[in-house]
Amino acid sequence: MTISRAASYFISTPIYYVNSKPHIGHLYSNLLADTIGRWQRIKHPSISKLIFSTGTDEHGLKIERAAIDAHLTPLAFCNQVSETFRKMFDQFSIEYSNYIRTTDEQHCQAVRHVWQELSKQNLIYKGSYEGWYSVQDECFVREDEIIKDQSGQTRIKETNCLVEWTEEKNYMFKLNQFHERIEQWIKDQKPLYPTKYNKLALIQLTELKKQGDISISRESKRLSWGIKVPNDSSQIVYVWIDALINYLTVVGYPDHTIHWPPNCQIIGKEILRFHAIYWPALLMGLDLELPRQIVVHGHWLKDDKKMSKSVGNVIDPCDLLIKLQCDGVRYCLLREDVLSQDANFNEYKMKKYLNAELANTLGNLLNRVTSSAINSERIYPSRPSHPLSSAATELLDQYINLPLRVTTAYDSYEFYHGIIAIMNVLRACNAYVQHEQPWLLAKSTIENDRQRLQILIYLTLECLRICGILLQPIVPSISKQLLDVLGIDQNKRTLHDCTVQIEHKAKHLNLMKNERISLYQRLPIVENERDE
Ligand code: MSP
Repeated sequence: MTISRAASYFISTPIYYVNSKPHIGHLYSNLLADTIGRWQRIKHPSISKLIFSTGTDEHGLKIERAAIDAHLTPLAFCNQVSETFRKMFDQFSIEYSNYIRTTDEQHCQAVRHVWQELSKQNLIYKGSYEGWYSVQDECFVREDEIIKDQSGQTRIKETNCLVEWTEEKNYMFKLNQFHERIEQWIKDQKPLYPTKYNKLALIQLTELKKQGDISISRESKRLSWGIKVPNDSSQIVYVWIDALINYLTVVGYPDHTIHWPPNCQIIGKEILRFHAIYWPALLMGLDLELPRQIVVHGHWLKDDKKMSKSVGNVIDPCDLLIKLQCDGVRYCLLREDVLSQDANFNEYKMKKYLNAELANTLGNLLNRVTSSAINSERIYPSRPSHPLSSAATELLDQYINLPLRVTTAYDSYEFYHGIIAIMNVLRACNAYVQHEQPWLLAKSTIENDRQRLQILIYLTLECLRICGILLQPIVPSISKQLLDVLGIDQNKRTLHDCTVQIEHKAKHLNLMKNERISLYQRLPIVENERDE
């Protein structure tokens, strides 16, 4: 069976260095990609193939040195850490389809093929490089980016990372040749999102013009852990070129390119230059289409500093998993705006959100409307034919607008805006329930009261159904539990199903007698955590 390109969606994350254990910054990029992938499925159920690639970046000096420190061979070390990343992604329900490791033979072949293609196009020549190299960032650094510290060591101004002086013969890639086309691409297509990054990429392009072409190999006497340059074993392919090609390995390049190009590539802002300049230049050299969109996110900070192993301020996702559960962590990370800005990690604030929103606003609403005091037969009633009160009509209006609001937010990758809109509707529904006092209506024998109660149950369950569908990309297990209780068919959980049902037939909820569902357990909060 052949799958047409229109029916597929390809999203990627960066591949992560295995020199240290994963932290929530790494998890965040994958979570963003996972949420986008899940949203695409809900919005376009006709997508038959969703490619979601992630993985580990395993070559280079940084990894070679970390393996020595761990008293392991580089491959044994990579196997270990790569597995830790993979396990962490699985624990957070990240539904990746391809897990690329740059040590996989299929990837190494793709890299060699790219090299040969670029050589054929006369885009590679032998040259030499003299300058500063940052092992931490695995990149060459300009003179104006460094300073000497008090002890006379040379460091990168912005990150404080040490740099090493390097003089060596290596292969150069004719980046210069592509400057104009890249500039045009950024100006015309504005491929970077948020849009401010288009401007930033153009500034970086101007900086790079001054530097000329780029070195794309290292001498193997300095670095042995990498892919050898075809027909020249004295040189190793530069780790960033090796890493970028992983996106091609995913689709089966060079044998297959049917799913090329990616619809959406997620990156953190510090690797903008590699993805907005080197990457399109390579693709232009290979005569391949450029990615449709590159989504750039900010950093998770701890105490206003970027979370990283070198600073020693990382938050371990596994600790959080124990405290907040998978969906709790997903909810908190997506509840913050980390797209247009950096965000400080604050556990106290996160717990507050979880208790107020997942446990109370969402969880309690379900419990209220399914409790035996209000809905003794545990029924999802059909739409009542009686006229609605003005409070009910107002609420209904909010349901009608919600899918569009959430779509606008999710399509712009601003998941936090979508979550806020959903919570506002759930809050309004809670207020309506409070106002109608269903526990009194349930005891009344007056027909009008019985009707009001039926309308209330119907409207509340509809609210939970629509919100449950829209929350699926954010909190997949909680939404599943909710939609299962409501008895919603698997194929009726799409954006298309987020309209208020007119033809709904009364049915029993999937609940045992007296069963009380806990969608999210309230977390204990110690008030002095606030200041930590
Ligand atoms: N291996 C390269 C990327 C190659 S992609 C072809 C690399 N790896 S990394 O391990 O340093 O991870 C970089 C990515 O991890 C960032 O671009 C970002 O997506 C994520 N994050 C790492 N630290 C982060 C934060 N503190 N906050 C948010 N995300 C960050 O660079």
